[in-house]
Amino acid sequence: MKKMVIKGTGRYLPERIVTNDDLTKFMDTSDEWIQQRTGIEERRWVSEEGNIGASDLGLEASKIALSRAGWVPEDLDLIIFGTLSPDLFFPGSGCLLQSKLGLKSTPAIDIRQQCTGFLYGMEIADAYIKSGHASRILLVGAEVHSTGLEMATRGRDVTVIFGDGAGAVCLEGVETDENVGLLAASLHAQGDYAEALMVEAPASRLNPRITHEMIDDGRVWPKMDGRNVFKLAVKRLPEVSQVVLDKAGLTLDDIDMVIPHQANLRINQFFQKSMNLPDEKIYNNIQKYGNTTAGSIPIALDEVIEKKLIPKEKGTILFAGLGAGVTWGAMIFRFM
Ligand SMILES: CC(C)(COP(=O)(O)OP(=O)(O)OC[C@H]1O[C@@H](n2cnc3c(N)ncnc32)[C@H](O)[C@@H]1OP(=O)(O)O)[C@@H](O)C(=O)NCCC(=O)NCCS
Repeated sequence: MKKMVIKGTGRYLPERIVTNDDLTKFMDTSDEWIQQRTGIEERRWVSEEGNIGASDLGLEASKIALSRAGWVPEDLDLIIFGTLSPDLFFPGSGCLLQSKLGLKSTPAIDIRQQCTGFLYGMEIADAYIKSGHASRILLVGAEVHSTGLEMATRGRDVTVIFGDGAGAVCLEGVETDENVGLLAASLHAQGDYAEALMVEAPASRLNPRITHEMIDDGRVWPKMDGRNVFKLAVKRLPEVSQVVLDKAGLTLDDIDMVIPHQANLRINQFFQKSMNLPDEKIYNNIQKYGNTTAGSIPIALDEVIEKKLIPKEKGTILFAGLGAGVTWGAMIFRFM
């Protein structure tokens, strides 16, 4: 039976470092508040010049992943692009990335799963591979948040947590009887919470989609009910992680590393505590990058591999995340 294996990973973070102190120039906040509540010390934002979109960051991460896989873009059967900050309202960033890779007809799908974009992307890729519809897939998670954040005290709860960045993985279907690849997954969504974290305008449900008044009222910036999202995350992340462990017939002893989505270090500390995980079995990098949404898990995965924190053969990872939608989920992946 065909199993999905990871052939290469890559990440790209913009060079511009924005510290918590830098943010105090635009809004009433402090390094102390941000570190205490979120664990974030700094984040990367794209350069203010040059109109850089999610597909540009995705391209840089993809080039690294492709070269590590030993692939050229023409080897790809499919591109899956996860982002909540697409370059354009439409068409999707996957199409833009496809063009930037020099491809002329390779299919490209955008998925709008926010912080669980990578998790949903992995399950879609696995389904394509198992059904025989594709055998070499590029999965990208990329965000440019910084151009869509309110640089004022009104938006400070959201603005301080988000960063720009991209991660990419090359996935291949390989015929093997070994227990490798995507061992278990459990993905969910509950649209009842859509307004707990959203950007309201411009939108098709508004007529007109955008007005000067909407801009003045700040409806074009992300709004978040942070406390509610926090509560959902600390409850659902351990629950769904246990579900995938049970599905795979594994325990935490079989897991080499847990890579949670990077939304807030405190959420991940609660998660770690409720799973009874030792420090060396959970990976966090939010301190350096903030929340890069669809980019966060593949960026962390690339760092975990680079730092050799999991065994090269049969390394087993549990991924988990929750974010806007709300969407949440977990999965267990084992390297070949
Ligand atoms: C956003 C978050 C860090 C806010 O932390 P919190 O402890 O819930 O803080 P609150 O929103 O209750 O705000 C507490 C106070 O700090 C203030 N505050 C909010 N942001 C601030 C900032 N950046 N700097 C300083 N003060 C701030 C609030 O105005 C409030 O002041 P008040 O008590 O005078 O009204 C936290 O709720 C969170 O991380 N939530 C989950 C986020 C998440 O996972 N999102 C999904 C990711 S996709």
